[in-house]
Amino acid sequence: MNWVASQTAADKALQQELLQELLAKGGKLPKHVAIIMDGNGRWAEERSFTRTQGHREGINSVRDIVEASSLLGVKHLTLYAFSMENWRRPRPEVTLLMELLLHYLKSELDELHRNNVRLQAIGKLNALPKNVQKQLFECIETMKDNTGLTLTLALSYSARWDMVRAVQMMALDVRRGKVSPEDITEESFAEYLQTHTMPDPDLLIRTSGEMRLSNFLLWEMAYSEIYVTQKYWPAFRRDDLYEALSDYAKRERRFGKTSQQIASEQANADEPSGLKRILQAFR
Ligand code: IPE
Ligand code: IPE
Ligand code: MG
Repeated sequence: MNWVASQTAADKALQQELLQELLAKGGKLPKHVAIIMDGNGRWAEERSFTRTQGHREGINSVRDIVEASSLLGVKHLTLYAFSMENWRRPRPEVTLLMELLLHYLKSELDELHRNNVRLQAIGKLNALPKNVQKQLFECIETMKDNTGLTLTLALSYSARWDMVRAVQMMALDVRRGKVSPEDITEESFAEYLQTHTMPDPDLLIRTSGEMRLSNFLLWEMAYSEIYVTQKYWPAFRRDDLYEALSDYAKRERRFGKTSQQIASEQANADEPSGLKRILQAFR
């Protein structure tokens, strides 16, 4: 299915309305949206379903949000799908989550590829079952030259683990004489993180009302805007994404400066985010 061609008129109108609203507010469409997809279990419990059914329905939300992000022109979408701490869950739940992941990768490959999505993964990937690793690397390889949305799955991911890993690799480079300790900067350190190919997230969305980061992208989210919604992940669909984006557009990102400084910088800047171009492509 081609997402652009098969888009409903109603959704197209909604997206256009949102983009126009963002443009009016200074053109702030986040380049990078990161999501902590939480609440599958509670969504299911509330309906007297099994947790498995919650995870299954969660995949339908993934499909919807990936498609909507791609249509809107978001460049990077990073989804926290399985944390390193999630290995501590009961064995049957872990097995089920791995099976669902495998199934998702198999069933979505064609559609994602056809829609120009590039797939990436971060986390301790060699901890995943062999068949999942194989499928994952196959998908990544197939889609590696695509130029649309970059979809990054965080799998067996831990931000602290990634930072420690980066320090180890840097220390090795120091030992080899490739890096001198005095020259280490924030930028050179970030080059060693698994996320080095993407910009920092502009917006973090967490579903199900929890107010915590759960070891997700700790370095990268130093200045991300945070949006927490009460909705459980299986109930979070594109309309909810639009709401989050519209909320984000109202924020003033100051990065330590004053409001006045930001206002005068904006007055002098050209239209920054290519939103006009995206909007034109919609017509
Ligand atoms: C998120 O939903 C899915 C994963 C962490 C894999 P949960 O399974 O954490 O759902 P709750 O938090 O128990 O409701
Ligand atoms: C965070 O959800 C990890 C993912 C969404 C994959 P959890 O439900 O595991 O988070 P905590 O442990 O309750 O903070
Ligand atoms: Mg949870």
